[in-house]
Amino acid sequence: MRVLLTGSSGWLGRTLAPMLAARGHRVTGLDVAPGDHTQIVGSIAERSVVDRAFADHGIEAVIHAAALHKPDIARYSRQAFVDVNVTGTLNLLEAVVAARHRRFVFTSTTSLMISQSIRDERSDRAVWLDEQSGPIEPRNIYGVTKFAAEQACRLVAEEHGLSVIALRTGRFFSEDDDTHRALSGENMKANELLHRRLTVEDAAAAHIAALEHDGPVGYHLYLAAAPTPFSLEDVVELGRDAASVIARYFPHAPALYAARGWMLPPSIGRVYDSSALCRDLDFRFATDFAGVIRAMERGKPLPFAHDADYVSPAAGMFS
Ligand SMILES: NC(=O)c1ccc[n+]([C@@H]2O[C@H](COP(=O)([O-])OP(=O)(O)OC[C@H]3O[C@@H](n4cnc5c(N)ncnc54)[C@H](O)[C@@H]3O)[C@@H](O)[C@H]2O)c1
Repeated sequence: MRVLLTGSSGWLGRTLAPMLAARGHRVTGLDVAPGDHTQIVGSIAERSVVDRAFADHGIEAVIHAAALHKPDIARYSRQAFVDVNVTGTLNLLEAVVAARHRRFVFTSTTSLMISQSIRDERSDRAVWLDEQSGPIEPRNIYGVTKFAAEQACRLVAEEHGLSVIALRTGRFFSEDDDTHRALSGENMKANELLHRRLTVEDAAAAHIAALEHDGPVGYHLYLAAAPTPFSLEDVVELGRDAASVIARYFPHAPALYAARGWMLPPSIGRVYDSSALCRDLDFRFATDFAGVIRAMERGKPLPFAHDADYVSPAAGMFS
């Protein structure tokens, strides 16, 4: 397929572009910042840029990963988020409709499901989150605009018979968390693979599975995070004493962690369930927490990327 990949200079885009090409797709990268996989430097917020991309490259399908996201909240205005995340998404949807093509994959985020109350872990148990969870009450402009973009995808898919898959993707960023500094970056990423993270390679592979999926037309939403070892029966204990639950599933984890000076999480406030994605798209994640433990046992490199200093190419691009 001739695929337009937005956000091609970013962390996900630069991983996804070569994987798409290896599958035989002809990829045109569009990003506001230059990059090795970006053929068109321009903004999706400008309809003329999007229309020209379709006209010049015979685009048949879109993977829309470009966005201003959470770290950008500190850098940009709420209006910039609306322009890029909402107007930009609508521009791409309108272009797909005008070109009479149907396939659209949207990179959404689990972040939009996290209300202030979930964020603050006000419940005495872990919140189990899947595609049916609600109400959706995003706690910041990133979540608000991603949710609006999802709704634009749903509306246009229903009105025009598009086939849109939105992937509410968990964390895959390589940099340190900008709000939690208590644990080392690698310790935190390993912990998060239990319940809210995936590798960037798995995020890219899930997008390819969505692109190539021959499912029914309409709007389809999936959560994408590494398969959790936990079940619904664990939610109370996860809230009270997550380390004990983890030790039950992974008896070697406490000693392996202690050897590195790492800490297991004392409590876990949310769990993302991506079983619908695995079932409907016949998708298998390559990396989960069990893979981390295996690597630690064998003295192998950890199976995820960590780059404390990564900064988005979009930094400094907007006012
Ligand atoms: N990083 C994560 O952990 C995470 C988690 C969930 C969802 N997501 C989503 O994944 C997608 C990719 O994120 P990433 O981590 O690769 O971020 P990133 O910042 O590395 O990449 C995003 C890219 O979008 C580009 N971009 C921004 N505004 C643009 C515009 N107006 N026109 C064209 N390009 C523009 C940026 O230049 C950048 O290259 C985003 O949609 C993000 O919301 C990311």
